[in-house]
Amino acid sequence: MTVKKARIAVLVSGGGTNLQAIIDAEKSGIIKSGEVAVVISSNPGAYALERAKAAGIPSEVVSKKEASSRAEFEEKLSDTIDRYGTDLIVLAGFMCILSPEFTKKYERKIINVHPSLIPSFCGEGFYGLKVHEAALKKGVKVTGATVHFVNEIPDGGEIIMQKAVSVEDGDTPEILQKRVMREAEWIILPAAVEYVSSMVISK
Ligand code: GAR
Repeated sequence: MTVKKARIAVLVSGGGTNLQAIIDAEKSGIIKSGEVAVVISSNPGAYALERAKAAGIPSEVVSKKEASSRAEFEEKLSDTIDRYGTDLIVLAGFMCILSPEFTKKYERKIINVHPSLIPSFCGEGFYGLKVHEAALKKGVKVTGATVHFVNEIPDGGEIIMQKAVSVEDGDTPEILQKRVMREAEWIILPAAVEYVSSMVISK
């Protein structure tokens, strides 16, 4: 008997190290209730597309720049997601804010990884290195990462997992970003993907 797995669409915009963590976790069996069915990039030059290719995973580009409006971009995105029979959408370094119409359509089916301990350093304008710059500027001694459900409030959906990471003397935003990825994001994102996939298929 083959057990059904959740079909996962991973949405990316850049380097794709979190996508890689998901691919590796699927290979090693940490993710067993889901499988990456497609990688969708908002940016045609994203290195994440190379990672998908190397893993033999289908990929699609839905360019944000080329779309004439957010509505057109989201319509194409939604068509692509639906075409692959997606059960779960994972935002892994996806640098676009989704509209309330979009998040409503996929209620509790979209999760996101954010590189801070929400509710610190989150919401509109806080993405990528900017998050770590803000954490260092504030002088926090502990930061981390959060995986949460995506709703109409940017970074405001229900928290699924968090992991704390120490800030150390001499940290630059780049050094801190790398430590948060290694010690938190690449661990909790695959764990949350497995957890939510298992919930999705048991419904
Ligand atoms: C990650 O640190 C991710 O948490 C962050 O962008 C980076 C993408 O790296 N996402 C956000 O800031 C979203 N608000 P990756 O492409 O190597 O996974």
